[in-house]
Amino acid sequence: MDGVTLVDHPLVQHKLSLMRDKNTSTGSFRRLLREISLLLCYEVTRDLELTTKSIETPMQRMDAPVLKGKKLAFASILRAGNGLLEGMLDLVPSARVAHVGLYRDHDTLEAVEYYYKAPHDLSNRVVIAVDPMLATANSATAAIEKLQASGAKDIRFLCLLAAPEGIANFQKILPDVPIFTAAIDERLNENGYIVPGLGDAGDRMYGTK
Ligand code: PRP
Ligand code: URA
Repeated sequence: MDGVTLVDHPLVQHKLSLMRDKNTSTGSFRRLLREISLLLCYEVTRDLELTTKSIETPMQRMDAPVLKGKKLAFASILRAGNGLLEGMLDLVPSARVAHVGLYRDHDTLEAVEYYYKAPHDLSNRVVIAVDPMLATANSATAAIEKLQASGAKDIRFLCLLAAPEGIANFQKILPDVPIFTAAIDERLNENGYIVPGLGDAGDRMYGTK
């Protein structure tokens, strides 16, 4: 599918299946999401440019590869985005962080904003927006449009599960923003939930249901 990278690494798929299981505890769900985020971060940053830096090893001088150019910012779509954010910050501790607080109105499925705070220099950064679930895509597109209004230009979106309807809606609104996901599920149900899915990601992370 154009513009969508499916991260089908066996470790990701195995951990995702454990997360889908309704008998998985809140603690295990959180731990698995953090572990998967490390593997997904690896894929979403795969094309970052490298340059070299002259260093001295204990043996001799060498030109060693280091990241070049634009720095990173992660944008967490609250609440569930924080589950991906934490692992990604383990890998890139220097990344700046934006928080976009949104919840889905249960009747209209529209995204309702309640918080927004972002670094001032988003225009100079590769921005990776994270949220485990892409269902209707109303939340992801609202968050990314907000980041764009703050100056972000080079944006990619990382999730765990996507619905085909959500991908279509996302690409209609944001055709130039690449999507990275660990799975594309069957469909949305009549309540806008992904099936087979994993349920409500925020509730499962925080034990709020
Ligand atoms: C969930 C999820 C996404 C959104 C996806 O958040 O984390 O943000 O729904 O659905 P959409 O693609 O149809 O917009 P929710 O609104 O449940 O808030 P929460 O993370 O605070 O639980
Ligand atoms: N939000 C979730 O957390 N899960 C879904 O299946 C859809 C939206």
